[in-house]
Amino acid sequence: MRNEMMTVAKNQEIAANTYELTLSGALVNDISKAGTFLHIEVPGGDLVLRRPISIASVDPVAGTCTLVYKEMGEGTKRLARCRPGDLLAVLGPLGNTGFPVESPQAEDHVLLIGGGVGVPPLYYAAYELAKRKVTFTVILGFQTKAAVFYEEQFRYLPGSEVQIMTDDGSYGGQGTVIDALKTRTDRPAWLFSCGPRGMLRALEIVSAQPGTKGYVSLEERMGCGVGACLACVCETADRSSYRKICQDGPVFAFKEVLL
Ligand code: FES
Repeated sequence: MRNEMMTVAKNQEIAANTYELTLSGALVNDISKAGTFLHIEVPGGDLVLRRPISIASVDPVAGTCTLVYKEMGEGTKRLARCRPGDLLAVLGPLGNTGFPVESPQAEDHVLLIGGGVGVPPLYYAAYELAKRKVTFTVILGFQTKAAVFYEEQFRYLPGSEVQIMTDDGSYGGQGTVIDALKTRTDRPAWLFSCGPRGMLRALEIVSAQPGTKGYVSLEERMGCGVGACLACVCETADRSSYRKICQDGPVFAFKEVLL
C-alpha cells in the first residue's frame, strides 16, 4: 500500500454521470487483485473523507490504472472536474481479498453479475479470466440506456457472453439481472458479483446452488480504508461477529457475510 500523488492521465464521462478516470503512478505496480480499490482524497482539501473507488483495469506497460465512478455528491463532482496533468492524493491499493480469478478451471463456467457502479471490478475479473482462457457469461444491469457502460469492453474479451438489462427496457432486456437469470437454466461453477445490496441478496439463491461457489464484492462508505475506524463493518452470515469490508474484504464468499 502506498500513499502517493498520482497523475490524472484521463478523466472522461462514459455514461450518464459516470466517469472513467485513468491515473498514472508507481502505485500501479502494487495492484494485483480484481476487487481492490483506491482511496482518493477529494481536491480542495476541505472534505475530510476520501472516496473509495474500485479498480476496473490495470495497464502495467503504460503504468496506469483505470477506475470508474459515479458523480453523486460534492466529492465526486470535484473529481469529475479533474483534468489530465492534475495530481490526486491516492492511498492504495486497499482491500486484501479479490475475486479468485485463478481458481476456475478452463472447463468451468463462470457467471459475472454486476449492477451500476458494481460493474468495474467485474471487468477487471473478466479480463483476468479471459487471460486464462476461462469462458464466462456477464449479465449487467443498469437503470436505463444512458447509464450503460463497458458493454463493448466486455464483448471484446474472448470467451465472454454478454447480456445487458435495463430497468426501463430502453436497451437490452427489460428488467433486472435477476429477471435475466430466471430465463437461464445453466448452473455456474463460479459466481462473481458486485452491485446494489438488493441485487446481491437476490443472488444468494444462485450462490447456494450445489456446485456453485459464489463471491461478492461489497461496496460501502469508508472512513480510513485501512481497518482502523470501523466505518465499514458488516455482520457475518451467522451473526456471530463482524467483518471490516476495507480490511477483511472487499470480496467475500456469499456464505460468509450477511447481505
Ligand atoms: Fe475504517 Fe474500514 S473504513 S475500518
